[in-house]
Amino acid sequence: NSILLINGPNLNLLGTREPHIYGHTTLSELETSSVEHARSLGAELQVFQSNHEGAIIDRIQEARGNVDVIIINPAAYTHTSVGIRDALAGVDIPFIELHISNTHTRETFRHHSYLSDKAVAVIMGFGVHGYGYAIDHAAKNITPKKA
Ligand code: DQA
Repeated sequence: NSILLINGPNLNLLGTREPHIYGHTTLSELETSSVEHARSLGAELQVFQSNHEGAIIDRIQEARGNVDVIIINPAAYTHTSVGIRDALAGVDIPFIELHISNTHTRETFRHHSYLSDKAVAVIMGFGVHGYGYAIDHAAKNITPKKA
C-alpha cells in the first residue's frame, strides 16, 4: 500500500503552536514516527506539508495513479477550501480526513468541513495519536485500486 500524508497550513509549527490544543510533538517527530509506523505495517508513506492551498492541490494531483490512499489534515483549509475538495474528488483516491483536536468542541466556524462527506473516515480529537490510527486503517483496510 502506498500512502500519502498531507498536513496543511500552520502544522509546520506543531509542538510550539497552541500546545494546549495540539500537544508538544513536532511535525518532524510526527512525520518520522508515521513513516516508521507505516513501514512496520508493510506500507510506504510519503509526507508533505504546505501552508499554501495551491501547493496542496498540486501535490494531490501528482498522487494520481501512484498513491492508494491519502491521509489529510487540511487544517484551516478544512473549513474554507472547495479547491482541495475538488482536487481529492478529481484524482479519485480514497482519503481519510484527520484532525488533532475535536473541532466540534471549538468555534462554530470549525464545525463545517468541505471534505467530510467525501471521506472514507474522519478521525478527530485523539491528538497526534490520530495519525497512527489513520495509518493503521490505511495500511490494513484499504485495498489498492491499481492492479
Ligand atoms: C486542525 C483543526 C482546524 O480547525 C485548525 O484550523 C487546524 C488544525 C486540527 O488538526 O485539529 O489548523 O485541523
